[in-house]
Amino acid sequence: MGLDTPALVEYICGMLDSTDDVWEVLSTARSIRRFTDEPVDDETLDRCLQAATWAPNGANAQLWRFIVLAAPDQRAAVAEAARIALRAIEPVYGMTRPAADDDSRAARNNRATYELHDRADEYTSVLFTAYKNEFASEFLQGGSIYPSMQNFCLAARAQGLGACLTSWASYGGERILRDAVGVPDEWFLAGHIVVGWPRGRHGPVRRRPLADVVFRDRWDPDRADIAYGRGARPRGGRPRV
Ligand SMILES: Cc1cc2nc3c(=O)[nH]c(=O)nc-3n(C[C@H](O)[C@H](O)[C@H](O)COP(=O)(O)O)c2cc1C
Repeated sequence: MGLDTPALVEYICGMLDSTDDVWEVLSTARSIRRFTDEPVDDETLDRCLQAATWAPNGANAQLWRFIVLAAPDQRAAVAEAARIALRAIEPVYGMTRPAADDDSRAARNNRATYELHDRADEYTSVLFTAYKNEFASEFLQGGSIYPSMQNFCLAARAQGLGACLTSWASYGGERILRDAVGVPDEWFLAGHIVVGWPRGRHGPVRRRPLADVVFRDRWDPDRADIAYGRGARPRGGRPRV
């Protein structure tokens, strides 16, 4: 394997981070954006892909194909798509490259996000495609592919592997990835996931409390606030324009 001591420690910690406890998997499958140089072995990746095929989907039609992107040309296309996506999301989320001495949570998050996008050509990733049909809205068709992506991510987490869903198959990156892989236009590029052995640990996801997001029987306009991004609006308030 040829790893130096710190890298070996990271590698072993990653392996020890595997768990079969479903609640631990669900509550700690946060996005991992920083990876060691250790390649993802086929056996581990295949278990994630197997889990993806176990996802619910409309009529069990399984209108999906999962494309592993590992060869240099495909990784180069992924890197280009990552650059384009970064340019699109920076203004949406007000993201900038953090100063070297900024250790705030936002800076640490942004630093990891920039690292993922900057080093995109170094990682293995999977493109999730879905056959377009004429009898359901695009949103509904998404419902038959996104569960497979979540199954993939949970299987990665259970094995101690890190994963991050990305928007790289959207924006201008869609054409680049489509051409690099040869996906016909009658298939959606539904999503894309980067995988690798974590540098750092898995940890608890941070989410709004149930009281904010669960309504009983009736829509509650006072709790329909949007906390983040360009569409942000305060509790009970109107959207900013
Ligand atoms: C559809 C989708 C697209 C995403 N695109 C990106 C992306 O392009 N780059 C990135 O760093 N993270 C991306 N993410 C990861 C989210 O930023 C992350 O899930 C969210 O901030 C919650 O953090 P957590 O997964 O660590 O709990 C994406 C997630 C989803 C569901």
